[in-house]
Amino acid sequence: MALVLTGYGRLDRPHRDVERCLRDLAEAVRARDIVLVRGRACLFVEKLEEHLADEEALMRATAWSQIARHTDCHAHLLFEARRFERHVAVNSLTPGIASWALIRLPELIRFHCIVSDFGFAKYALRLAQDPRPRLARRGDSPVRREMSVPRIRSASPPRT
Ligand SMILES: [Fe+2]
Repeated sequence: MALVLTGYGRLDRPHRDVERCLRDLAEAVRARDIVLVRGRACLFVEKLEEHLADEEALMRATAWSQIARHTDCHAHLLFEARRFERHVAVNSLTPGIASWALIRLPELIRFHCIVSDFGFAKYALRLAQDPRPRLARRGDSPVRREMSVPRIRSASPPRT
């Protein structure tokens, strides 16, 4: 899997760990060692669970508005990863399992990084660069901006 960097270190660092797990899994598949494949599938699923939970906590902490959709995507990724782990636990190494480990899982994660994680990374980077307090940012919607046009004081009537 060629890692897709988002530019946000708090995502990119754990993504490298997940990528390393996938690389180790691929190595076991190429060695045709099903016992090793089972162990590395387990490590991959653990690392993925840990990372996705951390990512969701980070999204909650930064009030990311797309968190519900994003957690749905994570649930799908975990479902596929756990299904793979269960499948290798009771089956021998087939071309189908090899394809699942070498192509399907890496591509699912890569697709998620491009389609979903990039948006959050962009948002988080913008927050990190915004010096205003968080409460001021929350009221920063376009509608509120229009409504918060500074008042123009009416000139007091000339004194006679
Ligand atoms: Fe994500």
